[in-house]
Amino acid sequence: MTTAEQQQPQHQFPHPTGSNSYGHAQDPEPHGHQPPHAPLSPLGPEIPPPEQEDFVTDTESMRSDYDEDFMETYSLSSSILDYQYENGRRYASFRSGNYMMPNDEEEQERLDLTHHIYLMLMGGELFNAPIKNPQKVLDLGTGTGNWAIDFADQYPGAVVVGNDLSPIQPAWVPPNVEFFVDDYESDWLEKMNAYDFIHSRNLAGCVVDWHRLIRQAYDHLKPGGYLELQESAVWAWSDDGTLKMDSPLMEYLMSLNDAAHMIGRELNIYIDLKPWLIAHGFEDVHEQTYILPFSPWPQDPRLREIGRVQAAMVEKAVEAYGLRLCTQVLGWSQERTKLMQGLVRQQLKDRSLHSYTKIKVAYGRKPLI
Ligand SMILES: C[S@@+](CC[C@H](N)C(=O)[O-])C[C@H]1O[C@@H](n2cnc3c(N)ncnc32)[C@H](O)[C@@H]1O
Repeated sequence: MTTAEQQQPQHQFPHPTGSNSYGHAQDPEPHGHQPPHAPLSPLGPEIPPPEQEDFVTDTESMRSDYDEDFMETYSLSSSILDYQYENGRRYASFRSGNYMMPNDEEEQERLDLTHHIYLMLMGGELFNAPIKNPQKVLDLGTGTGNWAIDFADQYPGAVVVGNDLSPIQPAWVPPNVEFFVDDYESDWLEKMNAYDFIHSRNLAGCVVDWHRLIRQAYDHLKPGGYLELQESAVWAWSDDGTLKMDSPLMEYLMSLNDAAHMIGRELNIYIDLKPWLIAHGFEDVHEQTYILPFSPWPQDPRLREIGRVQAAMVEKAVEAYGLRLCTQVLGWSQERTKLMQGLVRQQLKDRSLHSYTKIKVAYGRKPLI
């Protein structure tokens, strides 16, 4: 019997030269179990040179960056609120096939717990990038908007824009936050060189073409602006052999990774953040890794507390991440899916299991010229 630590899943993003220029093969980090798949170019299509435009610095003119066509795109039509219901969960209707997770209250609670976990892990900080005096900020796939709202509170002089497929953000927010229903995978209609800071968190499995997304972010950042990507592994480890590869948790994670791969939305992209930023021309690229226990098993009081909140979050994540992937992509019955999820939850409650996952936070600066 092998442990999850010993048998690391394979990750098969190729390298531009055929050599290991991203360091994957030597990298002890696992990348999620993935079957062989078609090469994804680490750079994607050639990165166009950044557009030269004057910077916008005052708040009023920043708001006017949105022309009428743009506002029309974002108006909240009733069809956006025509949710879809499957297996007892509610899903977005706008571009709904694009996203595998629910958007109901249960899921919103999970997103709020996740926000809390990131704050605890990052010592109360919302980001790591060394930004100064941000004027205009974008949060991609903002979810319940917690990050954007907290950022707006901390920086009342900044305009913070959050977009998402689902209009699940609260109505009462600081005056300097705006939320739009939008698909970040389509062409961004805002002006180029507009943002001081672009942030995304937990979009693993929500993006088909990360290179296009990062390229659009690059184009829409002001020179000198920062992009920060915060992602969790969708994988588990233990250092003491208590997590076995043939346990329900690992079998479920492998199934989710296979399913996400089948629909072209890889889950374990946390490892690629830094190389992607470098490949797309960002400077001053930094990355930090955080260990996130799945339950309150660590001795360390801080990690134990984080594990307590993570256990509550994961209880919900087991279904949120897998219900559509298992039933729609893998073709499992609802019964089989629920049985598997029950076994995973049971395993995660076992205090003798010393399992954890990893969060990576990477940022980079768009060059000044
Ligand atoms: C796992 S949640 C993370 C939410 C938020 N970033 C956070 O950390 O709390 C992913 C979010 O991305 C949104 N999303 C997925 N695909 C999207 C797309 N193509 N365009 C815009 N939002 C998208 C989902 O609706 C969901 O709210």
